[in-house]
Amino acid sequence: MTSGRDRQPGALRSRRLFFALWPDAALRDGLVQRRRPLEARLPKRVPDHNLHLTVLFLGNQPGDWLEAIEDAADAIRSPSFELLLDRFGEFERARVVWLGGAAPEAGRGLAETLERSMRGLGLDFDRRPWVPHVTLFRKVDDGRNLPPVAALRWPVREFSLIESIPSRPYQVLRTWWLD
Ligand code: 2AM
Repeated sequence: MTSGRDRQPGALRSRRLFFALWPDAALRDGLVQRRRPLEARLPKRVPDHNLHLTVLFLGNQPGDWLEAIEDAADAIRSPSFELLLDRFGEFERARVVWLGGAAPEAGRGLAETLERSMRGLGLDFDRRPWVPHVTLFRKVDDGRNLPPVAALRWPVREFSLIESIPSRPYQVLRTWWLD
């Protein structure tokens, strides 16, 4: 897929990319509702339109690799699965508070298949173990003593390639169905 922007000068600039699960409107509402009780103590919330669950972070990649990245993702066959986001948690060093849950086998399979596929292209990126989470707050000073939360069921039938451009909402570039 080639957008108008890709044909303009500067097309080969680096692009900050990641594969993620992108919530539909109902799931986004579910995330926003669960976040609400924490808002009084954690002021820096992630904008509603940016809420997502990362599967594989690629980081900055040369723009002219985008087509190969999409072609490689086209070839992925991986089953649908379900996530249960049933706890708040904190990554202290990253200073984020999130809603997350256990990683089901098929979800780990998708993360691994994507990683193998992207490494197969020769892309270089850091890989952290996949901890399914939706970051809700950033720049957290104290994320201890988080309350219990009603579990949110997320039937995962697709995954997306997302671009992060500073000061703009995340852009969904492409979405692929799971089997
Ligand atoms: P976070 O939500 O826990 O901060 C876009 O930046 C997305 O990629 C975010 O979901 C972010 O996770 C994640 N991300 C950023 N850097 C990453 C890295 N080095 N490894 C894995 N995920 C990363």
